[in-house]
Parts: sequence; structure tokens; C-alpha cells
Amino acid sequence: SAAEKGGYDYFMLKEIAEQPKAVADTLLGRIDANGSLTLDEVRIPASVLREVDKVVIVACGTAYHAGMIAKLAIEHWTRIPCETELASEFRYRDPILDQRTLVIAISQSGETMDTLMALRHAREQGARVLAVCNTNGSTIPRESDAVLYTHAGPEVAVASTKAFLTQLVACYLVALYLGQVRGTKWGDEIGAVIRELSEIAGAVDTVLETMEPVRALARSLADKDTVLFLGRHVGYPVALEGALKLKELAYMHAEGFAAGELKHGPIALIEEDLPVVVVVPSPRGRSVLHDKIVSNIQEIRARGARTIVIAEEGDEAVVPYADHLIRIPATPTLLQPLVATVPLQVFACELATARGNEVDQPRNLAKSVTVE
Ligand code: AGP
Repeated sequence: SAAEKGGYDYFMLKEIAEQPKAVADTLLGRIDANGSLTLDEVRIPASVLREVDKVVIVACGTAYHAGMIAKLAIEHWTRIPCETELASEFRYRDPILDQRTLVIAISQSGETMDTLMALRHAREQGARVLAVCNTNGSTIPRESDAVLYTHAGPEVAVASTKAFLTQLVACYLVALYLGQVRGTKWGDEIGAVIRELSEIAGAVDTVLETMEPVRALARSLADKDTVLFLGRHVGYPVALEGALKLKELAYMHAEGFAAGELKHGPIALIEEDLPVVVVVPSPRGRSVLHDKIVSNIQEIRARGARTIVIAEEGDEAVVPYADHLIRIPATPTLLQPLVATVPLQVFACELATARGNEVDQPRNLAKSVTVE
């Protein structure tokens, strides 16, 4: 009913709008007054976490994209090797797992069969499993050694939005917590990240307030066949997520690429007026990466692409090459997906509407996939 949708036309719109609160709720009570993490829910003893020599993340779809970003955060902040794998592929390759492996299973519903089978396999091999889940008491947390709940509240729309942002927050917390427990050099960076994380909900809100041009742009592209998405580092999973949203909602051909791979093939796809969304990393910190992506934008534009550039506030280098510029607040490098994904959600939702599609219930899809 309209009341359930809180005055929005679709659950998806409501859930997009709820993201600042979902992010804040997921942080609530988990950072103490001294800026340290208190994750008592992670019932795996610190002594076990100190011995972990490998982290493996398993998930599907949007949750897998969160896992790809989590890998970068975990490796950067803890220096523990981490791999992220599609849950549906995981057990079929006889993965190497033992008591010192920490497996993180990410799932909104907690009922995804592929993820459940992956975690069962991991436990059979002696690995510890930590679930990152949004649904209290669902099967995946019940079968895991521990769970860190995302506090997104119920997500009704098939397309995942607020669950994704809160999965990211939960994964950042796990990464920082692992660092804390293992006594990783508690440098300025980590303290600063925790502080910036506790303020990030406001940044998400700022993005939401500036989405009207993104909606107008989406409507103007309603009769296109293809949209490409490019990113690097954390921007690559964001590009994949933007493409997945567009496929499932707008039924358009959409693909995400790591921008550095363009020259190895995909650049052949670029043609006159093809919309290409580019997620640009912050110019501070990782300026080399930033400069490389700016040249990518130049290259595709020279070949006729219509460039839709998502870039941090104050990044002037992209201005000459952006046919459409979407600004996002400056954040630490690893946290950028929390703000960069939001315009892509809005973009896909609006394109679906413009194409007359059912936003909350896309064809052929179920909210939770309980078959392998
Ligand atoms: C996202 O928009 C999708 N509908 C889908 O990819 C989803 O993220 C995936 O099926 C995993 O679901 P889960 O988080 O409930 O395990």
C-alpha cells in the first residue's frame, strides 16, 4: 500500500531515501567514545582472530560487489590476504581452507542458497564463518560461527540498495576490528577513517539532495540500448553494481569494466553517443589512479562516447571531459562507494520508470534466491 511505501511510489525509492539512517543505524553502538570498535557480537574469540592467516568472502550479486570492496579494505587495513569469490563458484573448485581461514558470508536475506552452501562447505573444512546479514535469525547467521547484523531494516524492493550500503559499513567495521584485535599499527589513518565513517551518513544525505539532474539524465537515455560503467580500485565494484542495477531494473544491456582493461578489448565497443558512466577516484591520496582514469575519460570521449562522470567535489581535472558531471562529497578513498553508488541506484530506478518497468518487482527475479 501507499502507506507502507511511506509516500513514495516504490519501495525502492523509499529504501534509497532511507540510506543515511540505515548507515547510521549500522554504526550505532559499535564505535565507543574513544573511537575504538566494540563488536561484541563477533563471538569469534580474539585469540582465533589473531591466528587468521587468510580471509575469504563469499556472496552473490550486489552482496558480492560489497565483498569486492571489503577485500580492498581488509587487505589495506589488516594486511591479511583476502579473496572474494562468487558463492556459486566457491565449493566447486575445492578451495583451500583450514582453521586459520576466516570466511565472511555476506547476505541481505540470509537465505541465499548459493551462499549457504558455500559457508557449509567452509565449515566442513574447519574454517570459521562470520555472517554479515540483514535478517535476524535467518539461516545463514544461524549456521555461522558469528554474525554482524546490518541494521538496514526490511528491504522489500528486489533491487538491493540500503542493504548494500550497510553491508559496506559492516565490512569496514570488520576490517577495522580485525586490525584492532591484531594490533595492527593503529596509525592516524585508521583513527581518521573511523571518524569519517561516523560522519558518512551526512555525506549520503548530501548526495540524495542533489539527484534531480541524475533523474533528468536517466529519462533522456530511456531509449538507449547499452550503458557502460567504468571504475578502478573501489570504483570497479561500484561500476559493476551500477551495471547490475541497470540490467535488473531497466532491462538494458549494461556492463562494468575495470577502466585499465578498456585498452585490452572493451574500448572497441565505444561508438558515437554511447553513454559511459565513469566513477572517478579521489584526486588526493591516489592521484596516480585519478590521472589514469582522467585519461580514460579523454580516450573514450575522443571516440564519441557520451561521458557521465561521477567525481568528488572540487575535482576540476574532469570538467573538460564530462558531458554530464555528477558531484559526490569527498571521502577517504576506501569509503567512496558509500557515496558513489547512490547516483547509480537513482539512475537505474529512474530509467526503469521511464521505460515503463515494474521497479519493485523486476521480471524473472525473486528477492531471495533459495535454489542453487
Ligand atoms: C541485487 O539488486 C539483487 N537483487 C541480487 O543480486 C542480490 O544481491 C543477491 O541475490 C544476493 O542476495 P542476498 O544478499 O539476500 O544473499
